[in-house]
Amino acid sequence: MCGIFGCILKDRDAAPIIHSALKRLEYRGYDSVGEAVLHGTNLTIKKDEGKIDEVHALHNLDDIAGRIGIGHTRWATHGAPSQINAHPHTDCNGQIAVVHNGIIENFLGLRRELQERGHAFRSKTDTEIVSHLIEEGIREGLTLPEAVRGAVGRLEGSYTVAVVSVLEPDKIVCARKESPLVLGVADDALYCASDIPAFLPLTNMAVIVNDGELVVLHDKGYEIRKIADGTTISREPEVIDWTPEMAEKQGYPNFMLKEIHEQPLCLRNTLRLQEQYLELMTTFLDRAGEVFLVACGTSYHACLAASYMFSKLAMLATHPVIASEFVEQHGSAVNIDSTILAVSQSGETADTLAAVGVSRQRAATILGLTNAIDSTLTRISRVYICQQSGPEIGVAATKTFTSQLSVLSQLALRLAKRRGKISHEEIEDLEEKLEQIPDIVEKIIKSREEDVKRLAMKYRDKNCFFFLGRGVSSASALEGRLKLLEIAYAPSIAYPAGESKHGPISLIQPGFPVVFICPRDGTRRTIIGNIMEMKARGASIIAIIEEGDKEIKGLADEYIEVTKGLPEILSPIPYVIPLQLFAYYMAVARGHDPDRPRNLAKSVTVQ
Ligand code: F6R
Repeated sequence: MCGIFGCILKDRDAAPIIHSALKRLEYRGYDSVGEAVLHGTNLTIKKDEGKIDEVHALHNLDDIAGRIGIGHTRWATHGAPSQINAHPHTDCNGQIAVVHNGIIENFLGLRRELQERGHAFRSKTDTEIVSHLIEEGIREGLTLPEAVRGAVGRLEGSYTVAVVSVLEPDKIVCARKESPLVLGVADDALYCASDIPAFLPLTNMAVIVNDGELVVLHDKGYEIRKIADGTTISREPEVIDWTPEMAEKQGYPNFMLKEIHEQPLCLRNTLRLQEQYLELMTTFLDRAGEVFLVACGTSYHACLAASYMFSKLAMLATHPVIASEFVEQHGSAVNIDSTILAVSQSGETADTLAAVGVSRQRAATILGLTNAIDSTLTRISRVYICQQSGPEIGVAATKTFTSQLSVLSQLALRLAKRRGKISHEEIEDLEEKLEQIPDIVEKIIKSREEDVKRLAMKYRDKNCFFFLGRGVSSASALEGRLKLLEIAYAPSIAYPAGESKHGPISLIQPGFPVVFICPRDGTRRTIIGNIMEMKARGASIIAIIEEGDKEIKGLADEYIEVTKGLPEILSPIPYVIPLQLFAYYMAVARGHDPDRPRNLAKSVTVQ
């Protein structure tokens, strides 16, 4: 998501150092840039929408005197990319400057509260409340570190903040919860950053700041304190022996694996969406005469899974449609009563936009789910929601799928509530399970990665794979197949398991690998029947099963276990994780670069 950098230098100006550090954070993706530099009691801020080079051409980012400063690259989450929404953000008096990475869940309530007490807000960001909260603390007589501690104590959600103020112009104060923060330590400088690459050419001595810690950087060194009780913690720097390329991938061998591992964090972010947008979109879905879920590739698979969610939870029949077919298949039938929910990570996929374009001409209502605020999709949607997964650099979509599913399941759940279609107990159970999903995904990655790696080694020479699932898991099967074929170049097929008998089963010979996705749901008896059919023909069965599922364990040649007790409708989120890892390790075992599969582009902007 956003990139943060800050520095205290002994005898050089900070601005050019901030500028070059932000350039090193460019790989993360961003839409705006800004910096704040202290020079005694002068605080100079330069910021704007656009790429660093463009903003530098307009404002000369190097031309500010002062040895202490902070900088930021913004990936919009609240408020469109614009100069006003770019960081740093200041308090009412322009004395405190804040940069932030993360999502503040309770910002609307805090903003209202602060406005009632007379604070004037300039931007539409969640970040700006932090500068006003710090301002209040200082007004009450607190020091800057204590005021920052008090302010972040009021935040719900995720954050790393870096703060400077003319009131204590010799320091930078940082704090973190969930979003990353590292310090860089050199003889003549101290740095703070969201990411090691920001300072790696300047020093390889780093201190990792843990969740719930606050750091004060000043000329004499750094102090780490616990946000909860202010107690100090001593932590020595460690040597980082990463190359700049390894640092960008945070030590992972490539972006795809890094992004697979980021999913717990991204899923937590999806649980912090703004209520009012979820509510508004639910209203549009509730009123729709008919709903089309339109997307390509992985986003289409998320739509397919969502069609089961909307139907099972909210009794809303939806039509999931591959965007490139939409105009031919449904274009002439779309009308003023139609609602199109377009799902696109990039918000720029040409086929999806073409489907939306035709639907708009026919007066349909357009809703968007995307990862890119200010993409074309957000501009042409009546309401859009940001999937909040941050830049995805690996060409194969991974965190996109699980984040989109989390948002879509929240919409289905809201609609179910509104329509009174499921009981209170069911709603509470689903809400509780949804909250647990990030931890469950984290556990699966931690506990199953080695098993999946071993599986990939065993099957790496197989030429073709079959992926089968029933019900909502047929979408997981399609997604598992897509991941494997696009990065490991293993031609594979996926079907709803029931359909396999109607043709594809003729492919099966002894040893043919068939991956079954089998959560313990209503389709269990029939999927067991499908496993038996494949087994009878000598297939090698790989089953993704619920923990402790003895019956399927007894039938499968290999199995990967997924946490018990998940509602069927949420199962594609955890069950896709072993499939993503399998594709990843198959690609690696076959000697392919998972980040850059041949012939593919991250965003397909031609029809
Ligand atoms: C597969 C993949 C693609 C995209 C598809 C749609 O791993 O990345 O199939 O899902 O090109 O892209 P968006 O979601 O940007 O519209």
